[in-house]
Amino acid sequence: MEVIITEEERIGELVADDIAALVARVPDGVLGLATGSSPLRIYDSVARRVDAGTLSLARARAFTLDEYVGLPAGHPAGYRTVIDADFVSRVDLPADAVQGPDGTAADLAAACAAYEAAIRDAGGVDLQILGIGTDGHIAFNEPGSSLSSRTRVKTLTEQTRRDNARFFDGDLESVPRHCLTQGLGTIMEARHIVLVATGAGKAQAVHHLVEGAVSALWPATILQHHPRVSVLIDEAAASRL
Ligand code: GLP
Repeated sequence: MEVIITEEERIGELVADDIAALVARVPDGVLGLATGSSPLRIYDSVARRVDAGTLSLARARAFTLDEYVGLPAGHPAGYRTVIDADFVSRVDLPADAVQGPDGTAADLAAACAAYEAAIRDAGGVDLQILGIGTDGHIAFNEPGSSLSSRTRVKTLTEQTRRDNARFFDGDLESVPRHCLTQGLGTIMEARHIVLVATGAGKAQAVHHLVEGAVSALWPATILQHHPRVSVLIDEAAASRL
C-alpha cells in the first residue's frame, strides 16, 4: 500500500495523471467510478484536461460502485444521476459506456448477478477510484461485510444514512435503507485501486485502513491484501497515522 500525504488540489492532479497514463496505454481501459465528495477534485482535473484536449476518454468504459435501492431513475440523489452530473456529462466518456447496478430492478439478486457479469465481460476494472466512509466502509460495504463479498443488496447503517442525509435535503427519513453495492471481493479484483480521503472526519477510518488489523469491522482494511493500492490523503485525514 502506497500512502501519499499531500494537498487536496494535488490529489486530483495525481489521480488524473493515473487515468491519463491508463488511457494512453489502454484507450478502451475500464474505470471504476465512485460517488461522494472525495473524488470531486479528480473529476475536476480530468474534465479540465478533456476540455483542453490533452486527455480523451472517448473509448474508455466505466462502472460505478453502488446505488440506492428504490429511487426512481433520474432522482437527484441517485448515484447514477450524481455520477452523470459530477463526471460523465463533463467529459467525452460516452454515456452508454457507463454502467451501474440497477437499484430499480424488480429482481435485485438478478440485477446484482448481471452487474458482476457485465464487469467480468468488460475484462474487469483497470483503475478503481474509492472514497471511504467515516465508519471505514468502501462503496456501501458497511462494517461486518464479508471480506470476499460480491455485488449484493446491503442495509445501510444509521451512521451512513445520517452522513448522506445532506443529499436528501437533510431529511433522514428520505434516505433509502437499502442499496446495491459491489462487494469487497469485487472491488479487490480491480487491477489498481486509488483511495482518496480528506478532512479530519476521515482520520479514524484512514488510521484503521493503513495501520489497523484486517477486519470486517473496518471493511477498507481488506485493501491491505491488494497488490496495488494508492492511498492519497491530506494532512487532516493523515492526522492519526
Ligand atoms: C458513500 C459512498 C461511498 C463514499 C462515501 C464517502 O457512502 N457509498 O462510495 O466513499 O459515501 O463519501 P464522501 O467522499 O462524500 O465523504
